[in-house]
Amino acid sequence: MRNNTEKILFMGCGVMGEAVLSSCLQKRLYSPENIFVGETDEKKISALARAYGVKTMTSEDAAGLKDNFRAVIAAVKPQKTESIIPPLKKIRFQLLITIIAGVNCSYFTDRLGKIPVLRVMPNLCIKVSKSVNALFANENLLSSPLANELMETAEKLFSASGKLIRVKNEDYIDRVTAVSGSGTAYAAYFIEALEEAAAALGFKPDEAALMSREIFDGAITYMRETGETPAMMRKKVTSPGGTTEKAIQVFEDKKLKEIVSEAVGTAYERAKELGRKK
Ligand SMILES: NC(=O)c1ccc[n+]([C@@H]2O[C@H](COP(=O)([O-])OP(=O)(O)OC[C@H]3O[C@@H](n4cnc5c(N)ncnc54)[C@H](OP(=O)(O)O)[C@@H]3O)[C@@H](O)[C@H]2O)c1
Repeated sequence: MRNNTEKILFMGCGVMGEAVLSSCLQKRLYSPENIFVGETDEKKISALARAYGVKTMTSEDAAGLKDNFRAVIAAVKPQKTESIIPPLKKIRFQLLITIIAGVNCSYFTDRLGKIPVLRVMPNLCIKVSKSVNALFANENLLSSPLANELMETAEKLFSASGKLIRVKNEDYIDRVTAVSGSGTAYAAYFIEALEEAAAALGFKPDEAALMSREIFDGAITYMRETGETPAMMRKKVTSPGGTTEKAIQVFEDKKLKEIVSEAVGTAYERAKELGRKK
């Protein structure tokens, strides 16, 4: 359902920003005339206006806008974060939503004052509206008299592109990064391994790709439709003395679950370390 009055502004609209923008338009949450984009890339400025009919401009011009924005969505690369601070000092907005990885809410409140900030950690599947979007609201947001409405805006914006999880401690954003932010790559890595194993058994690349990718799609659909957990589904396929049991035994002997846990733990440590460097 379109909101006819709220205006939102994207500061930076590359891969991730565009995914959020296009899902909002697809779900008809906003009219294009209420979506503004501040960008540095001239090509993107005209391409986004052409593709979506939204109002695009340089970030300097965005700084001169007199509109009062419901939310500004900061979606620049982490190393460009500083460059959006001067325009943000001039723009009137109620909520800052940041999807910038590794940059804490306090980075913005230290520079912009006591503003409500919502930190969101999406993943690459936001491009196909299948992201898990973790949300963390800072204290200024939670204690704002507009808290409910601002959270509603944010939840509406990000449920258009996936499922939401709310975290109460900002440190959990780093944990989400380790599980679902990087997780799309873990899934892709396992599929890659299966494709290579299929090729080693003599299948052509397209056959290996078809089988390895479809089983993931099939397994997720199966669990969703039957309500079975991964363990229940696994046990169903694993008959005593059969082929699956033999394969799973190899995973168990090589301690695959411990390897996965160690990998996720290492990603979490790295997310914390990168956050401290900002
Ligand atoms: N990819 C993921 O899976 C993922 C997951 C979670 C979070 N994130 C976060 O999402 C953010 C955006 O990533 P992305 O892949 O979308 O980056 P991107 O494609 O590089 O998009 C960022 C855009 O912002 C523009 N920009 C730079 N400085 C600007 C400024 N001062 N004002 C306005 N626009 C400016 C960039 O233009 P130029 O090219 O000219 O610099 C670029 O078009 C990152 O902080 C990343 O950490 C990504």
